[in-house]
Amino acid sequence: MRHVTVLAKEATDMLNLGKGSVVVDCTLGAGGHAEQILSVIGDSGTYIGIDADKTAIEAATYLKTQYGSTIHLIHGNFRNISEILQELNIPSVDAVLADLGWRMEQFDGSSGEKRGFSFKEDEPLHMTFGTPKDYPFTAQDIINEWDAEDIANVLFGYGEEHFSRRIAKAIVKARQEVPVTSSMQLADIVSDSVPAPYRRRRTHPATKTFQALRIAVNDEFDALNDLLRDGFNALQSKGRMAIITFHSLEDRIVKQTFKAYVRDEQGVLVHKKPMAPSEEEQKKNPRSRSAMLRTIEKT
Ligand SMILES: C[S@@+](CC[C@H](N)C(=O)[O-])C[C@H]1O[C@@H](n2cnc3c(N)ncnc32)[C@H](O)[C@@H]1O
Repeated sequence: MRHVTVLAKEATDMLNLGKGSVVVDCTLGAGGHAEQILSVIGDSGTYIGIDADKTAIEAATYLKTQYGSTIHLIHGNFRNISEILQELNIPSVDAVLADLGWRMEQFDGSSGEKRGFSFKEDEPLHMTFGTPKDYPFTAQDIINEWDAEDIANVLFGYGEEHFSRRIAKAIVKARQEVPVTSSMQLADIVSDSVPAPYRRRRTHPATKTFQALRIAVNDEFDALNDLLRDGFNALQSKGRMAIITFHSLEDRIVKQTFKAYVRDEQGVLVHKKPMAPSEEEQKKNPRSRSAMLRTIEKT
């Protein structure tokens, strides 16, 4: 399934870009925001697109032939934004955008790599942005090596999973018989460990477990905190940072960090309330429903 860009126009508008702007797109993905940005900044602008997933970088090379701006496509983690800009010799930027989370192609394997997100197929339990060659720490390590309490803490803390302890215990019991190495095996263990009514819901009972593991394996919340600090530092005065989140835990991190910048008179909120996709966008793309955009301007 192909990724559909969320809040494409709103996010670009909030960044207040013009011809010649220097912009970091921290989550290049399928290039939807990139195209919006490039069409505004023109030939004199500079676009830096970062993605932790090599397949996104490879698929985006077409941007260089379609737009005249200076374009840098960087395979890396946005938490290293300072080092990335330093290496490019770019001391400060006009705008930083992050559209957090993952693309459909990464979940359903259509990006070319099976990453361990399928409930119905035997995929290797990686849950990372690439293969173990680039990302050696995987969900399989957590599932097979961590003790029950630590697994439960991950499921509760990052997935708000109500049955975290039951699921963690079931995982530890199952792995004593045979190592847990596939996504379907894990999904079945979770499914068998929760009460029957939970299994009859519309979403698969392992959904929160998988989300929590993915966040833990990729250290997603700490990476976001690093980006909110170093991305903001990289802005020049009047520069803007816009962040799109897809769940409440992430949005809370953004909200609180922006609040602290405002309190310390380092920034002002561009819009007081988070922006959500229009009804029309939500109807066209139901996955956009949980999206929230927050934008801050550096003073
Ligand atoms: C929701 S998609 C972005 C979609 C993009 N804005 C578009 O319009 O097509 C998020 C992308 O960010 C990447 N990503 C997530 N966390 C990252 C991180 N910490 N560093 C770099 N890239 C990351 C994912 O690999 C994914 O491609």
